[in-house]
Amino acid sequence: MKDILTAPFVEDMKKVTANMYRQGWDERNGGNISYMLEEDQVAEYLDLTHVIRTIPTGFDATELIGKIFIVTGTGKYFKNVEGDPETNLGIIRIAADGTTAELLWGYKDGGRFTSELPAHLMSHMVRLRKDPNHRVVMHTHPTNTLAMTHVHELDEKKFTHTIWEMCTECIVVFPDGIGVLPWMVCGNNEIGEATARKMEEYRLVVWGLHGIYGAGRDMDETFGLIETVEKAAQLYMLIAHLPHVNTIRDEELKAVAEAFGLEYRKDFLNL
Ligand code: 13P
Ligand code: ZN
Repeated sequence: MKDILTAPFVEDMKKVTANMYRQGWDERNGGNISYMLEEDQVAEYLDLTHVIRTIPTGFDATELIGKIFIVTGTGKYFKNVEGDPETNLGIIRIAADGTTAELLWGYKDGGRFTSELPAHLMSHMVRLRKDPNHRVVMHTHPTNTLAMTHVHELDEKKFTHTIWEMCTECIVVFPDGIGVLPWMVCGNNEIGEATARKMEEYRLVVWGLHGIYGAGRDMDETFGLIETVEKAAQLYMLIAHLPHVNTIRDEELKAVAEAFGLEYRKDFLNL
C-alpha cells in the first residue's frame, strides 16, 4: 500500500487550499472543497474495507452510494491543510443507506466533513447527471465577488452581464453564465437544494453576501472559473464609481462567443 500523503489527490487539495488562502479568499475556516475520487485510485493507498467511523449526513444521497470523496473538514482552516492534511481533510464513502458517510481516512482529531456537505453532494449529483467527467465542487469567499454582491443587483442576467462586460474572455470561460442566490442561512439542506437547483444550469453559483460555488472536472478548471469571476468582480469594484468611457458592447460579446464556437446564454445579452 502506498503512502496516502503522497497521493496526487491529497497533493491537489494541499495546493489548491494553500493557493486560495493566499488569495485572501478563505479567512479562518471560510471555504470548503469536495473532490470525487475513483475507487481504484484510492485503493492504491487505503484498505477500502476499513471504515474508521461512520457519520450521518442528514440527507439522502442515494445517487452517490459507493462514491468516494476527499472533503475539507468543518471548522478547519485552509491555511493549515498543507501542514496537516490528515487532520484538516477526510476521505469519505457514501454508505449503502445513502445517508451515512463512512470515514476511510482523515479528520484525525475526531472532526467531520464541512457543514456545507449538503450543497456539495447535491451539486455533485446534479453536475454528474450533466457531465460524467464532473469531479470537483469548491466554495470560497472571494473578496471582490463578495463586495460586488453588496452593491450590485442579485439578478442572474444582470450580474452575469456585468461580469461578462468586465473582461473580454469571461464569456469564453463561462458562457453558461452565473447563477445567483439571495442571502440565505448557510450550512443546511435548504441552501444545498437551492444551490443544486442552480447547478442544473450553471457551473458557478454566487451566494449573495456570502461567497461563491464552482463546479468542474478538476481543480484547475474549477479554480479557474472562480478566479475569472473574482478578477472581473475586482475590475467592477475598481471602476463602478468612475465614468465609463469604453465598454465591451453586447454585439462584441456575441462576436467573441461566436468566434470561439460557444453555446452561450443569448438571453443574457440585450440584442
Ligand atoms: P465549514 O468550516 O463547515 O467548511 O464552513 C465554512 C464556510 O465557508 C461555510 O459556508
Ligand atoms: Zn462559506
